[in-house]
This record gives sequence, structure tokens and C-alpha cells, in this order.
Amino acid sequence: MVHVMVEPIHPFKVSYRPMALEDVEVVHRLDEQSFNLPWPERSFRYELTQNPNAMCWVAEVETADASRVIAGMVVVWLIVDEVHIGTVAVNSAYRRQGIGRQLVARSLLAGALKGARTGFLEVRRGNLAAQTLYLQMGFEMVGERRRYYHDNDEDALLMTLNNLDQVTLRTWIK
Ligand SMILES: CC(C)(COP(=O)(O)OP(=O)(O)OC[C@H]1O[C@@H](n2cnc3c(N)ncnc32)[C@H](O)[C@@H]1OP(=O)(O)O)[C@@H](O)C(=O)NCCC(=O)NCCS
Repeated sequence: MVHVMVEPIHPFKVSYRPMALEDVEVVHRLDEQSFNLPWPERSFRYELTQNPNAMCWVAEVETADASRVIAGMVVVWLIVDEVHIGTVAVNSAYRRQGIGRQLVARSLLAGALKGARTGFLEVRRGNLAAQTLYLQMGFEMVGERRRYYHDNDEDALLMTLNNLDQVTLRTWIK
């Protein structure tokens, strides 16, 4: 049994693995915790079972009592030569410990290994935490979609990371 809402127990060990269908319930709860417009649970099932261009991972934390907790997730799509980050989130109890960066770096590297040359994503104008993460990894703002998010009419900023370079991406991975 894996849980989503827990207090972090330090120190903990994080591993990264492909998302499984059994993870979807917890991943969906993490998504709901993290976004105003969460995906329906069936969207995660679809990505896992129906979309050959999707790659989905989770970050799993092993706590001191050896129980396992899904602390983060990412879904990316490989679209021609682009890795499009569909969603990424880390359980609020485990943020600011490098898990988000690992999920992004590992999914970009997986895309690069399949021939992708560019990373792409949309982020809310007000989401400074995520923007800081992406800027730190070399993403640049390349455009915007005005009033893209229908819950509050917030703009989406478009960000790309050009020339995905496996060597550089590997330097992010721990
Ligand atoms: C964005 C998110 C995935 C980051 O996950 P995380 O595991 O906390 O991020 P990391 O610990 O890997 O942070 C890496 C860097 O990002 C930046 N960063 C992350 N959170 C930040 C914050 N709250 N404020 C400022 N900078 C932040 C920092 O530069 C950080 O490096 P540092 O800790 O060495 O200073 C997480 O905040 C989250 O799940 N948010 C809700 C969902 C979301 O917004 N997803 C992105 C949608 S586009």
C-alpha cells in the first residue's frame, strides 16, 4: 500500500521508476493536491495504456520504517523531436529537496535518448516556483497564451530548452 499525504521522515531514500497502473490512484491524489485544474484519474490511465508517445514516472520515497510513498510524478509526451512536459508535481511534504528537478531532468534525458532535441512546457504566470526550476535548468521563455487557464483566466508562459544535450542533462541526475 502506498500513501500520498504523509509527513516527511528524514533521512529518506528516493528512487525513480516508471509509473504503474497501481500508482494511478495515489498519483491522481497528488495531482489534485498540486493543481487547481487536476487531470481526471482516467487521463493517467490513458497515458499509461493508450498513448505510445507518453512516458510517465514516479519518485518513490522509502521512509525509515521501510514503507514506500509516492512523492512525485511526471508525465511527458514525445512529439516528433520535442519532449513536452504534460504534468509534474511533488508532494508538498517533499518539496525543495531536488525531486522536481530529478523528475524533469530524467524525463528530458529519456526523451533525448529517443531523439528529442527540445524540451517544451507551459507554466502559469504566477507559478514562480516552477519557473525558477525551469530557468535554473536552462529553459527560456518563448511566448505566452493569454488567459489560458480557465479557472482564473491566468496566462500560460511557454518555455523551451533547446539543443537537449545528454551530457548536460546527466549532470542534473543524482
Ligand atoms: C514545481 C515543483 C514540481 C518543484 O518541485 P520540487 O521538488 O520542490 O523542486 P526542487 O526541490 O527540485 O527545486 C529545484 C529548484 O527549483 C527552484 N524552486 C523550487 N521550488 C521553489 C520555490 N517554492 N520558490 C523558489 N524556487 C523554487 C529552486 O531553484 C530549486 O533549487 P534549490 O532548492 O536548490 O534552490 C513543486 O513545487 C510542485 O509540485 N508544485 C505544484 C505543481 C506544479 O506547479 N508543477 C509545475 C507545473 S508547470
